[in-house]
Amino acid sequence: MATEASLAPASPTSPASPGRPIPELDPAVVARWQAGGGELVELLTQVREQLGGVAAVRLGAKPTVLVTDPQAVQHVLAQHPDRYVKRSHRARVLIGDGVLSATGDAWKRQRRLLQAQFTGTGMRRWEERITAAARTTAERWADYAHTGQQFDLGEEMRRFALDSIWRALTGHPLDDATERELATVGTVVSALPTLPAGVIDAREAVAAELARIDAVAERATAAARQGAGPDGAGLLHVLLDAATERPEYTDRLIRDELVTLLLAGHETTATTLTWLYLLLDSHPAAREQALAAGPADSPQRREAVQALVHETLRLYPSAWLLPRYATADDTLAGYAIAADTDVLVCPYLTHRDPELWPEPEHFDPRRFTTPGNRPTSTGSYLPFGLGPRACLGLQFALRESTVLLEHLLPAHTVTFHAIPAKAAYSITVRPDGPTPVTLG
Ligand code: HEM
Repeated sequence: MATEASLAPASPTSPASPGRPIPELDPAVVARWQAGGGELVELLTQVREQLGGVAAVRLGAKPTVLVTDPQAVQHVLAQHPDRYVKRSHRARVLIGDGVLSATGDAWKRQRRLLQAQFTGTGMRRWEERITAAARTTAERWADYAHTGQQFDLGEEMRRFALDSIWRALTGHPLDDATERELATVGTVVSALPTLPAGVIDAREAVAAELARIDAVAERATAAARQGAGPDGAGLLHVLLDAATERPEYTDRLIRDELVTLLLAGHETTATTLTWLYLLLDSHPAAREQALAAGPADSPQRREAVQALVHETLRLYPSAWLLPRYATADDTLAGYAIAADTDVLVCPYLTHRDPELWPEPEHFDPRRFTTPGNRPTSTGSYLPFGLGPRACLGLQFALRESTVLLEHLLPAHTVTFHAIPAKAAYSITVRPDGPTPVTLG
């Protein structure tokens, strides 16, 4: 018998409704872009500017759909994550079947185990460790200031973010030897775009680097099996405990989760903090305003510092492209999407859409402190993604960034001795070059 629901016309987002053909960027524009060796971000910007928030561009044999409109972003990431899934992640060569690249039921189980560690009381366990990592960095900066030594700000931020996540994982502070070995993670990530397509061939190409990373993971796991670290148990102990009851937590999967959390948990935060200092270099008043918002440790100061982080993430969301793959025919914003279509959600372009964010290129942290100064729709600001696959470490990242800045901002002004001329748009968007500084 027909029900009221089945008699209703198909909703505009129902997969059954046909949808209009999706507008596509003129292939001549793509050909010119290819001939000029331009950046992908430049081409995608043209797609958005010429055709709007849901539009296609032919990067290979088939059109890829670029999604920047907030409602469409929500449709893809939050409302229908079952129709738009992650394809095998490029970083699988490094992170294997860790939670970032896992799919289906395996992902659900892995996510559930870790989620509890990154929210509420789970998260509170890491706060002291984050503060200890911030203090260590602050002490190093006090020495740099005292001696006038020049150092690389990006490297310092990387070291801090790695120390924070290493302490949460193992219960130990990061030592110099482990830090040196873990620089290999960055080497593999930089090589990813140039590696052969198959995972096996790609692994072979970076076999020596992977062996060094595996050795660090093995040492840390062996130490965790002996008991908690000086700061207590860590995420690694949670994974080892899970293995006693759940056969899927093999030594390999524990290694994959460890490397996933190391990778996801440091590169993004380090890049954000580096961009933040670069932005403050051209907007010094923003630092003064944040410090004037309230006394140290006051909620006003914390909110103002957090707004610096949010405004940085608006301009430079480190995960600037979120690739998905349509598993079935769908209708998106009234357009027909065929099964097997590659979809690119692009927080970077959504965050720079002038219809959502007036004067989008302008760095203005007050967007995040003054009510009514930012668009309210969920899909208009998504540096941590949206929906069930949103960032697991959101609270961790915000906490570590704010705590570090609360230590460093009042104590030092930073003078850059070189500024990277441009951004590198790879898996993350990062400053393309060294960032030598001295402290005032
Ligand atoms: C400013 C810092 C960070 C940014 C901008 C960021 C951004 C993101 C984004 C956009 C995603 C979703 C990717 C997608 O939908 O395709 C993601 C996922 C993830 N992030 Fe973060 N992240 C940050 C820090 C962290 C930290 C500190 C951790 C760990 C401690 C972490 C762990 C993860 C994990 C495990 C996932 C995969 C979640 C899943 O697929 O279920 N992230 N992150």
